[in-house]
Order: sequence, then C-alpha cells, then structure tokens
Amino acid sequence: MTHSTITLITGANRGIGKEVARQLVAKGHTVILTSRSLEKGQVAAVEIGEGAGAIEVIQLDVTDPVSIERAKETVKERFGRLDVLVNNAGIDYDRNQSVMNADMDRVRRLIDTNVIGVWEVTQAFHPLLRQSDHPRIVNVSSESGSIFNIDVWAPGYATSKAALNGLTAVMAREFASDGILVNAVCPGWIATSMGGPGGGPLPPGGASVVWAVELPKDGPTGGFYQNGLPLPW
Ligand SMILES: NC(=O)c1ccc[n+]([C@@H]2O[C@H](COP(=O)([O-])OP(=O)(O)OC[C@H]3O[C@@H](n4cnc5c(N)ncnc54)[C@H](OP(=O)(O)O)[C@@H]3O)[C@@H](O)[C@H]2O)c1
Repeated sequence: MTHSTITLITGANRGIGKEVARQLVAKGHTVILTSRSLEKGQVAAVEIGEGAGAIEVIQLDVTDPVSIERAKETVKERFGRLDVLVNNAGIDYDRNQSVMNADMDRVRRLIDTNVIGVWEVTQAFHPLLRQSDHPRIVNVSSESGSIFNIDVWAPGYATSKAALNGLTAVMAREFASDGILVNAVCPGWIATSMGGPGGGPLPPGGASVVWAVELPKDGPTGGFYQNGLPLPW
C-alpha cells in the first residue's frame, strides 16, 4: 500500500484538471488521472511527465454509472483507499441561452454532468475515502454559481454550479462524522477550452484547487473558496 497521498481527479485529460494533476504529481501525490477517453488520459499523463509522485490513468465518465463503478473497483483493488477526490469534470458555458429560450435537453446535460455526476462519483468513492486517515473532497465550482453575485450570462451553467454549491454544503454536514473535509472551490477565470482565450494562465487556477486538496486535518469544511479566501454563497 502506498504511503503517498492518493488523489483522484475527474476530467483530468485537459484544462484545470490536468493542471491540478501536474501540480500534485510534482508535490509527490499518487494521482489517479481520470478521463472519459482512456487514450486522451494516457496522452495527458505522458505530457505531464515525471514528478516526485506517480500517475495512474483510469477511464471515468461521470455521467456513466457503469464507468463509475468500474473505476471505483479498480481503485479499490489497486490502492484499497482514496485520500482526496477532486470533482473537476464540468461542461458548457451556455452563454447564448436565456431562461426563456433555453434548450432543456442542454440544461439536462449540464445538470447531469455538473451536479448528478459529482453526486454519483462521490457516492461510489465514499467507502474508499472512509479508509483514509485524512479524507478530502474538492468540488470544482464557479463564482458564477454564487447566488449572492448571480448573473444571467450562462443560466444553465450558473444554476448547475449553484446546485453544486448546495450539494457541497449538504455533503460537508453528512460526512462530518467520517472526518471528510468537503469544500467547493472556484479556480478563477482561466484560459481553457471552456474559459476561452481571455482567461488567466493555468497555474494559479490549479493552485486555487490544490489549496483545498492540501488542507490540514483540522481545516475548514463546507466552504466556498477561491485562492484560499472565502467566496459568498
Ligand atoms: N476555465 C474557467 O474559467 C473556469 C472557471 C470556473 C470554474 N471552472 C470549472 O473548472 C472545471 C474544469 O474546467 P476547464 O476550464 O478545465 O474546462 P475544459 O478544459 O473544458 O475541461 C473539462 C474537462 O471535463 C471533462 N469532462 C466533461 N464531461 C465529462 C464527463 N461526462 N466525464 C468525465 N469528464 C468529463 C472533459 O473531458 P473531455 O476532454 O472528454 O471533454 C475535460 O477533461 C469545470 O468544473 C469548470 O466548470 C472553470
């Protein structure tokens, strides 16, 4: 059994998830880099290269219960536990929609990936997190989901991230007796294929997430953060 921190990241073949994987491998984590395309995940692992830690690539589509179950069984067999779950996979700035003209199939896909996917992946990995002596869940959310600052620019996306924030608060309370820290983190506006070219560079976005990955045992739970500072719900 490995003594290094075992961290699983969803949607880690590109963008912020891949950057978080890169930073954590450099810090010595055993990173379980998951991707809905195994091949794309393997390419990302090669691009990240060597670090103080190690990378294991596993196929995981957060909207496919069969894939989730298979990934959980693989992690159980290989490692017997999970220390950190980073629910990063997310989709669709639906900028061209309004509440009234929204394509509801598109909204369903958004909620399915950004909310139900996180819920179902967390259900699957919870027993393995309970085998850790310092378990953490990091839900990669967005300031767009802050109801305090809510805007109309991407109604399905904003609603999905507001729901993810609610789920984070519920999970934090339910999992408090298991000692699992659960927080939502906004990486900031970052230039990925989702964020577009106007966003900032990847490393600070990744670091905002890594902050919550590295919280000490007595660290905060049930919060919403960016760069280690609280955001309004
Ligand atoms: N970029 C920003 O400015 C920004 C700001 C705030 C929050 N965020 C959040 O940060 C997270 C990462 O976003 P990003 O900017 O890195 O976006 P990105 O470059 O578009 O990457 C999204 C990742 O999620 C994966 N994914 C999508 N659906 C999936 C599914 N069903 N199962 C597994 N993986 C799936 C994608 O895989 P494929 O390659 O297979 O599509 C990809 O690896 C998201 O939750 C996003 O909402 C981003």
